[in-house]
Amino acid sequence: MSPHDWNAPSYDRVATGVVALGHEVLDRLTLAGDETVLDAGCGAGAVTEQLVARLPRGHVIAVDASPAMVALATERLGEGADVRVADLTTLELETTVDAILSTATLHWVADHDALFTRLHGVLREGGRLVAQCGGAGNVADVRFAAANASSSPPFAEALAGFDPWTFAGARETEERLRAAGFTDVRCWLEPRKVPTAGAPEEYLRTVMLGAHLERLDPASHDAFVGAVLAQLGDFEVARYVRLNIEATAGPRPDR
Ligand SMILES: C[S@@+](CC[C@H](N)C(=O)[O-])C[C@H]1O[C@@H](n2cnc3c(N)ncnc32)[C@H](O)[C@@H]1O
Repeated sequence: MSPHDWNAPSYDRVATGVVALGHEVLDRLTLAGDETVLDAGCGAGAVTEQLVARLPRGHVIAVDASPAMVALATERLGEGADVRVADLTTLELETTVDAILSTATLHWVADHDALFTRLHGVLREGGRLVAQCGGAGNVADVRFAAANASSSPPFAEALAGFDPWTFAGARETEERLRAAGFTDVRCWLEPRKVPTAGAPEEYLRTVMLGAHLERLDPASHDAFVGAVLAQLGDFEVARYVRLNIEATAGPRPDR
């Protein structure tokens, strides 16, 4: 599944709760201030901006697969970061980095084995990976409602069986990280309720259902979002289960 483009201004408006979680994750990344750090899936750059502030003598490389997100992040960060359009599953950098931060992104990648191998490939030996993404049980109500709408007419033709998310468990992720060459691995799940910013319809459309909508005719977007929302009731909060990831890059395999 190739990544979809995002409505970056809308994400910036409504995803403030997700960004706040991202700031907590950044707090777990110990930095001296002179490192080169990759933000893997930088989105509109709000978390990246805080990362840049913590690296007064360092360097930030921020990548995201969405051209619209990269455009907004570039505008926000200016000279502060090297922002690029790139897919994490095929990411190549001209240098290794000292650390990788990733927030609210990795559950959009289907193949976590390939993903962690790639992240290991761009991290120097001893470098830290600190990440958070959706984990097992994440937004179970939305996932159920989306699957339900997807299997019903008129959406079934484009969406039957479609599920864009990899919501992995902690133990299986620890095993994958070790297999990819990481050591000192620790993963855990954390339930969190995040307000939908007083805009439940826009939140669903932008933050959650973008991959579904990309597969539908634009004329049916409102109906699909409405069909999901109708099953959720007021949807004042999103019931997240976050998968936290901390790991250190072991030796790089000979190439
Ligand atoms: C929910 S946003 C998170 C953005 C930001 N890290 C934050 O915390 O606000 C998820 C981001 O992951 C990006 N993404 C999804 N799959 C990707 C992939 N395979 N490679 C790179 N970026 C990807 C999306 O384009 C999107 O910008």
